[in-house]
Amino acid sequence: MKHLLQKLTETMDIPNTQMAAFQKITCLMELVLRYELIEFGSQIPPRPALDRIIHSAITRFTLSQNLLAFRNKQTLDEEGPEISELHEGLFDLLWPRYVKTHMTDYIDRYKFRIRHNKLNIKGKRILDIGCGNGGFTFAMLDEGAASGVGVDFGFESINHALNFASEYEYNAEFSVASAYDLPFNKNRFDFAIQNGVFHHLEDEDKALEEMARVLKPGGEVWYYVNGEGAIKADLLDASREILKDVPSEFIVHVLSTIGLSENKLNYLSDGFKAVYKFTTMAKLTEQLAGHGFSIIRRLSGGMPTDFDKDKIDADPHGKEKWGEGNLRLLCRKEE
Ligand SMILES: C[S@@+](CC[C@H](N)C(=O)[O-])C[C@H]1O[C@@H](n2cnc3c(N)ncnc32)[C@H](O)[C@@H]1O
Repeated sequence: MKHLLQKLTETMDIPNTQMAAFQKITCLMELVLRYELIEFGSQIPPRPALDRIIHSAITRFTLSQNLLAFRNKQTLDEEGPEISELHEGLFDLLWPRYVKTHMTDYIDRYKFRIRHNKLNIKGKRILDIGCGNGGFTFAMLDEGAASGVGVDFGFESINHALNFASEYEYNAEFSVASAYDLPFNKNRFDFAIQNGVFHHLEDEDKALEEMARVLKPGGEVWYYVNGEGAIKADLLDASREILKDVPSEFIVHVLSTIGLSENKLNYLSDGFKAVYKFTTMAKLTEQLAGHGFSIIRRLSGGMPTDFDKDKIDADPHGKEKWGEGNLRLLCRKEE
């Protein structure tokens, strides 16, 4: 806690203009009053809770200082682009921000998930649909896949993945393509990845049909979409409605001025702008079957920030907080 208080003191060590002094006073008032809620409140252990509110005071003060740079009174409101254009623009802003260290962390996370779920991908030809920065493709190659092909409709995202592949000598191909129209012959791949992409689509059935076409019979799929019913989804739906006319560029710019980690920045920009369609395990099972896929088993994300079934079941408020949770499935295309 001491080092956080030191950081708070340093952050607030700026000349006392009236505006700065006002912000110091209101920030410290909020900090002390929030601590009182902990002090007199309940059984919450005080130290980690206090660390969190000091951290948020630092963020709030930094943010208030940055406000000065945003005093232009012109409104930003623009008529929002249609859904696919919005997603293309949004993710094209986010993925190129992943420098080497972020990429390494990202790839490591997927390597962990591959091992955690004991995926059998050795020697397989992989297709990653909506590959973003290519992180999952790189992880598959690191874990023994024979070849990796990634497609995404974002030009900047693909460019970023291509540069990373060439710099770190990955046997990967990337191309700009839509999930609705994959530029490959039928039965070309042994294993497909759809990781957090199809819940953004207006026509998932069309994308499922394309995925089934390019996958060989008996081929497998890592399928991940979000289930419905999470409280957080309501919070993000409201945020998206409030920010619907604010351009993605501005949201990313603001979030990047307050020193968030790249993952948090990505998560919040995505949550504030991207459109999600949530589903249930029952509906998804039926939808997959309609395209000739059977579910082999439910997979697990395995990280503390994942909403896996065992975590939901173990928490007395799990269903209320996370609804159906993350629906990660290993599927097979029927012979
Ligand atoms: C949440 S990101 C997931 C990225 C990647 N699969 C991962 O797990 O890191 C969703 C990605 O899907 C891509 N995407 C969305 N709709 C698409 C479409 N119709 N065709 C191709 N890519 C699409 C976006 O550009 C974005 O990179």
